[in-house]
Amino acid sequence: MAVTPAVGGPDHAARRRALVEAVGAPILLANNGTRARNLPINALPFRADSTFLYYTGCTEPGAFVLLADGHTTLFLAPPEPGDELWHGHVASLEDRRIALGADVVRPLAALDAVCAPHRERLVSLAVPDASVNVRLSVLLGRALAYPGSPGADVLIDAIIRQRRTHDAWELAQMREAAALTTEAHLAAMGATRPGATEREVAALFDAVIAARGGTLAYRSIVTVRGEVLHNPDYPNRLGADDMLLLDGGAEVASGYASDVTRAWPVRGQFDSRQRDVYDIVLRAQARGIAGCRPGARYRDLHFAATRVLAEGLRDLGLLRGDLDGLVESGATGVFFPHGLGHLIGLDVHDLENFGDRPAYPPGRARPAQFGARYLRMDLDLTPGLVVTVEPGIYMVPAILHDRALRTEFAAQVDFDAAERWVGFGGVRIEDDVHVRDDAGGEPEVLTAAIPRDIAAIEARLGRGPSARERLSA
Ligand code: GLY
Ligand code: MN
Repeated sequence: MAVTPAVGGPDHAARRRALVEAVGAPILLANNGTRARNLPINALPFRADSTFLYYTGCTEPGAFVLLADGHTTLFLAPPEPGDELWHGHVASLEDRRIALGADVVRPLAALDAVCAPHRERLVSLAVPDASVNVRLSVLLGRALAYPGSPGADVLIDAIIRQRRTHDAWELAQMREAAALTTEAHLAAMGATRPGATEREVAALFDAVIAARGGTLAYRSIVTVRGEVLHNPDYPNRLGADDMLLLDGGAEVASGYASDVTRAWPVRGQFDSRQRDVYDIVLRAQARGIAGCRPGARYRDLHFAATRVLAEGLRDLGLLRGDLDGLVESGATGVFFPHGLGHLIGLDVHDLENFGDRPAYPPGRARPAQFGARYLRMDLDLTPGLVVTVEPGIYMVPAILHDRALRTEFAAQVDFDAAERWVGFGGVRIEDDVHVRDDAGGEPEVLTAAIPRDIAAIEARLGRGPSARERLSA
């Protein structure tokens, strides 16, 4: 097993020092383990826990790190007889300690004895792997309630503060993730034609990323039923009149994610309804992105973008009344039933394993309005944050036919007009935006190379090899 820290990569030891200083108690962090698919040697795909990765750079399943008494002790699985034969060379514990920059390395079997003297004060975090959390509970001698041990709030807040702001190296990783994502989106646009299937386009998108050494930051959404916001399935053939929505992003080897949505007409050219909706969403997104400056409040950007959507939907005859009222009542949420975006970093919804705490400062809570209640963040933006900006318009039968909503918004939504749009699907446009104070505070759109304007998208549609041709080449 080669364990080589990235050249010019992050200073994990400095990250750990800052964490220890903020917490003032011994800290035990765990990585995810390997999870059996059915029999243990046939494992599910492994992904390191993002916090463990951030503080150690270690991607070994089942590893732990103890930060106590001024030093870092890594606990790793020692080489086993047979490794060479079955998995290839496994470096010694000492070589792995040096590569990972820890002070001490111990075999996993030493974990209980080494942690025992710290047990009373030890703070720890739950990870996505439940079996590791059971192990942590035993080690701590008390139940580990998600997301952390009792008293872990100080630890969680310190992690949030560090991970939420990205340094130059992290931003370079996210630009690399954006470059892979760009290639995959371009391939999918080129392969779009009537008669192709969602499954083929998804396979192509995923393959382009895999061939460049990336993985998926999340399961790609590739659907002509874009009104299902996180549509997980690929059952459909692309029809000439459909809009195809593709929400997909690469993760690079260091773990950083990208998250990009585009929607385009299968026919290769937008018809007038598709163009109308797309133009409105594009204007709303431009409004959101332009506001991503230090000092701006993200919730204000959500409502500013919502106002642009409301105006466009009113022009289309789907909403009626004054714009402020359409935003304030939640009526616009009938067509835009989610929030403007979220944090992104090592995870696609970064830090969301800690709930709303990373994205809602004390004293702020989710808005009450329909749609806006799904807003995932309400931070005052600061340099180094990376956020998505992803407004959309959707024709969701479950919303348009909901009795309570039809009553609540009877005066502001023309539900009869909306009925004629059922089957349209959805349009979402999403980019990853770096908030910065250089460049005069101008936001950096990390994913700007993926065509967004109608003419630039149309110039790509159907112009490349089909998914079948490309995958069999
Ligand atoms: N890309 C999926 C989401 O942001 O929720
Ligand atoms: Mn997103």
